[in-house]
Amino acid sequence: RVPTVGIDIGGTKVMAGVVDADGNILEQVRTETPEKSKSPKVVEDTIAELVLDLSDRHDVHAVGIGAAGWVDADRSRVLFAPHLAWRDEPLKDALTARLAVPVMVDNDANTAAWGEWRFGAGRGEDHLVMITLGTGIGGAILEEGRVKRGKYGVAGEFGHMQVVPAGHRCPCGNRGCWEQYSSGNALVREARELAAAESPVAYGIIDRVGGRVDDITGPLITELAREGDAMCVELLQEIGTWLGTGIANLAAALDPSCFVIGGGVSAADELLIDPARAAFRRQLTGRGYRPEARIAKAQLGPEAGMVGAADLARLVARRFRRAN
Ligand code: BGC
Ligand code: NA
Ligand code: ZN
Repeated sequence: RVPTVGIDIGGTKVMAGVVDADGNILEQVRTETPEKSKSPKVVEDTIAELVLDLSDRHDVHAVGIGAAGWVDADRSRVLFAPHLAWRDEPLKDALTARLAVPVMVDNDANTAAWGEWRFGAGRGEDHLVMITLGTGIGGAILEEGRVKRGKYGVAGEFGHMQVVPAGHRCPCGNRGCWEQYSSGNALVREARELAAAESPVAYGIIDRVGGRVDDITGPLITELAREGDAMCVELLQEIGTWLGTGIANLAAALDPSCFVIGGGVSAADELLIDPARAAFRRQLTGRGYRPEARIAKAQLGPEAGMVGAADLARLVARRFRRAN
């Protein structure tokens, strides 16, 4: 029952934590994700540094990675990552060689779903869909205690379903992807656009960043929305409405009992979730004549992916010990 390390590698930040067998975080460190233009090795250096730092104070027996990308069916390679430099990257082997402990690699939303199912808002749910709103949209399907990966490992890439024909360009290469309308990036893009245009609705936020439009971040927008800034409230409403629309589509396809909403943007709480619930109810097909899935906020918050990765690493390490 020794603690393990979980690492969540997103498009904006890397979070690493020592997590015990009950999902409690004993210590947590974080840093910024290296720029996409840097080589994949730089991200691996960052991961190794965080693990070494934590190893100074903790006995690390296994490391679990939740990576913001498409992880193959063997949970070994990152095939593609829209927000990171990985292209068919043998992440598991590279890290196992460097860290000298068992390493588990999975998609970040998959590990978040696992974390929430084990310790959070998804406990007891046998048909759970996880949505994480961060740099992009992450998705995961967890049924009867197992993450559904599809044939090639990459099921649940909901963020890249097209919701607007000829819409905003996405780093995946397509246009109009859902995550271009409902994510931290979408929120920041809209706020910066309004601020750059010196729209009167943006005076509040322009003032707050002293005119430096590039200083506008997701957490700042949420903070201002909490203080009642009308533009920020409206932007979160828009993101939330797109979230509800997407979730209604997912309910048509997957019919889960529960959607858990996590990722950094979910810190906006009811400012995001209320409009999402409203849009969901307006758009759910067959509404009024079918049971409706519950929409819950991630109980582990933005740490869900990290906690889930650590827990999955524990399972992998156990299997590893039995086999050796
Ligand atoms: C990626 C996913 C990832 C998500 C959240 C998306 O753009 O395609 O693999 O889970 O962002 O980080
Ligand atoms: Na996924
Ligand atoms: Zn896309």
